[in-house]
Amino acid sequence: MKIKSADFVMSNSDVAKCPNEPIPEYAFIGRSNVGKSSLINMLTEKKSLAKTSGRPGKTQLINHFKINGNWFLVDLPGYGYARVSKRDKNIFQKYITNYFLQRQQLVCSFVLIDIRHEPQKVDMEFMQWLGEHAIPFAIIFTKADKLKTQAIERQVDHYIKELLSGAWEEAPQHFVTSSSKRIGRDEVLGYIDAINLDFFEANKK
Ligand code: GTP
Ligand code: MG
Repeated sequence: MKIKSADFVMSNSDVAKCPNEPIPEYAFIGRSNVGKSSLINMLTEKKSLAKTSGRPGKTQLINHFKINGNWFLVDLPGYGYARVSKRDKNIFQKYITNYFLQRQQLVCSFVLIDIRHEPQKVDMEFMQWLGEHAIPFAIIFTKADKLKTQAIERQVDHYIKELLSGAWEEAPQHFVTSSSKRIGRDEVLGYIDAINLDFFEANKK
């Protein structure tokens, strides 16, 4: 898929105030600092579309970006960021939870996982929660530039085995990416394109 346009639409913390156009939407979620905002910039080839930072906790709101005039990418805050207060954490979790439960046009969530890390409980629990609520998701491994090919394969195999030994009977769709080396761009955009086509076909009047 070719990206012809990518524009910031709005930021807010209330799912009811998100744009109400019935076009397909893809959300990026995962631990703080995993590379959600960087991946959005890599996919859209716009260096500063989503705000990034070396320090965790940069993205704080639900941010909508309209792509090619007919679908949305959504940048979300990270979970598991220890430095926000407990009260802020609860508020944050509530509006993110509401977003996932109420957003009708959300056709796929991408759960981002740092490819260097061992499977983490918070990610496993989040994917389990998505599964329990029948919210479709795919896994995107990030920062693949930090590992050699063999180590990438080892980490992915290990992660998928861990999922299959737990609640999952089938491995979720997964992608290996690097925002700095532009790895995985065609694969992720191709996946989105296929879902978009199904969406537009099903919603034809
Ligand atoms: P929050 O908004 O705080 O939840 O973080 P985020 O998940 O949006 O992460 P962000 O994109 O801001 O990136 C965090 C840090 O990781 C930045 O220093 C990025 O430069 C770095 N980073 C992101 N993607 C990659 C990648 O593919 N490779 C490498 N080497 N670094 C990356
Ligand atoms: Mg961010």
